[in-house]
This record gives sequence, structure tokens and C-alpha cells, in this order.
Amino acid sequence: MNRASLEKHPDDVARMFDDVAPRYDLVNDVLSAGQVRYWRRIVVDAVGARRGQRVLDLAAGTGTSSEPYADAGVDVVAADFSPGMLEVGRRRRPDITFVQADAMALPFGDDEFDATTISYGLRNINDPKQALREMLRVTKPGGTLVIAEFSRPTFAPFRTLYTEYLMRAIPPIARAVSSNPDSYVYLAESIRAWPDQEELAAWLTATGWSDVRYRNLTGGIVAVHRATKPAVEPAAGTATS
Ligand SMILES: C[S@@+](CC[C@H](N)C(=O)[O-])C[C@H]1O[C@@H](n2cnc3c(N)ncnc32)[C@H](O)[C@@H]1O
Repeated sequence: MNRASLEKHPDDVARMFDDVAPRYDLVNDVLSAGQVRYWRRIVVDAVGARRGQRVLDLAAGTGTSSEPYADAGVDVVAADFSPGMLEVGRRRRPDITFVQADAMALPFGDDEFDATTISYGLRNINDPKQALREMLRVTKPGGTLVIAEFSRPTFAPFRTLYTEYLMRAIPPIARAVSSNPDSYVYLAESIRAWPDQEELAAWLTATGWSDVRYRNLTGGIVAVHRATKPAVEPAAGTATS
């Protein structure tokens, strides 16, 4: 069984997700006690995509995060680098365009997407700031980025309880339901090592995104960050009416 380390070597991460793919969605539901469905609805609202618009769902895995866009008539591209996750996704939703792609070197042109979104993927990427720069490149000026990621519960006593849950409860639950229980040790460790809400917001600003804001869900277990790609400034001397 494969389990990535906190160094997040891309081959190890991809192999680990290949292994969890068959029961990935079931385990999410169990470990989050169904909360993941509520978190997904908030993300879709924050993206706010309309029929006919083009959305990149990066690190889309089995495509569960991409489905609501396809159902709403949005032209969604589900991109991921794990062949195992993509295979499950293509089988489940043959109507969605799945693309094998590395978030750090996207196979898309500049300014292609009205919005880019990534759910529970950024934390797993070897160089997340490079991925944020790639997302900026492929998003249209004025377009939106929405990130859902595990974060830091804001209320200290709740944070302590949650940390206990991550380190002690998740591994035995994962042993009961997952096809690769070891990977859920990585899940707990990677959540603990991940930057908090403010630090991720600072990364977004540093990589060129503007209007950065975030919203805490379930006490800050998850944060949804939203940002905009700066619109192109009119060239100096261009007349406006
Ligand atoms: C926790 S899953 C999230 C899947 C989906 N977005 C969801 O909400 O269920 C994380 C995904 O990130 C993908 N991933 C990690 N690093 C990546 C990279 N560098 N490029 C593309 N995908 C990557 C993994 O293959 C995995 O499918």
C-alpha cells in the first residue's frame, strides 16, 4: 500500500490516490460525517458559474467536486494527475471531460477559464505556490479562484478536540472503510502541517491574486478562499468613454 510523506513527492502522491480511488467518496462521507456535501455546496455558490461558462476543477480526483457544474450546464474540465482517480471519474461520469494534468505545469493556454477551483487538492501538491501561479495564468482576467481546504478551527477547545479526532480516530475508521488506510495517516499529518486561513490568504496575494477573502466552515475545519485575477489595465493613453 502507498502512503505519501509530508515531502509530497508527486509520484508518491499520485500512487497513494490511485490506491484510495475505489472507495474515495465513501470514505469522505464517513470521515466528515456527511459535512463534505455541505462544504461542496458552499464552494459551488462561491464559484458562481453560469451555463456556458468554462470552469477548471483542478485536482478533481473522481470528479465529485466537478459534478454540480456539469449538472448546471457549465463547461467543466476535471483535471488531476492520478490515473486511478481519473479512471473512477470517467466511469462514473462519462459526460465530464477528464484531463490528466499536473497542477504545477498545466496543459492549458493563458486566460482559458472563467473560473478555477480546487477542493482538498492544494494541500497535496508538492509546490502549492507554483500551482497558484499556474491557476492565475489559465484564468481569464477578472475571473475567479475558489479554494476549499482543511484549515485551523478558530475556537481553541474545539481545535484540541478536532486534533485528537484527526490523530486518534481517523486511522481506525479508515482501517474499517478505506482501500488504503495508511493514506489517512498522511491525511491527518498533512492537515496539521498546512498553513492557517491567514497564511493561505497571504500566499494568494503573493502569487498575484487580488480581492482575497475567506469564509470558515464548520468552525474553521474547512476554509473557502475566494480571489480574483486582476483585470487587464487599459494601456496608458487609451481613450475611454
Ligand atoms: C483529496 S483529493 C480531492 C479530489 C476532489 N477535488 C474532491 O473534492 O473530492 C486530492 C487530489 O489531488 C490530486 N493531486 C495532488 N497533487 C496533484 C498535482 N500536482 N496535479 C494534479 N493533481 C494533483 C490527487 O491525485 C487527488 O486526486
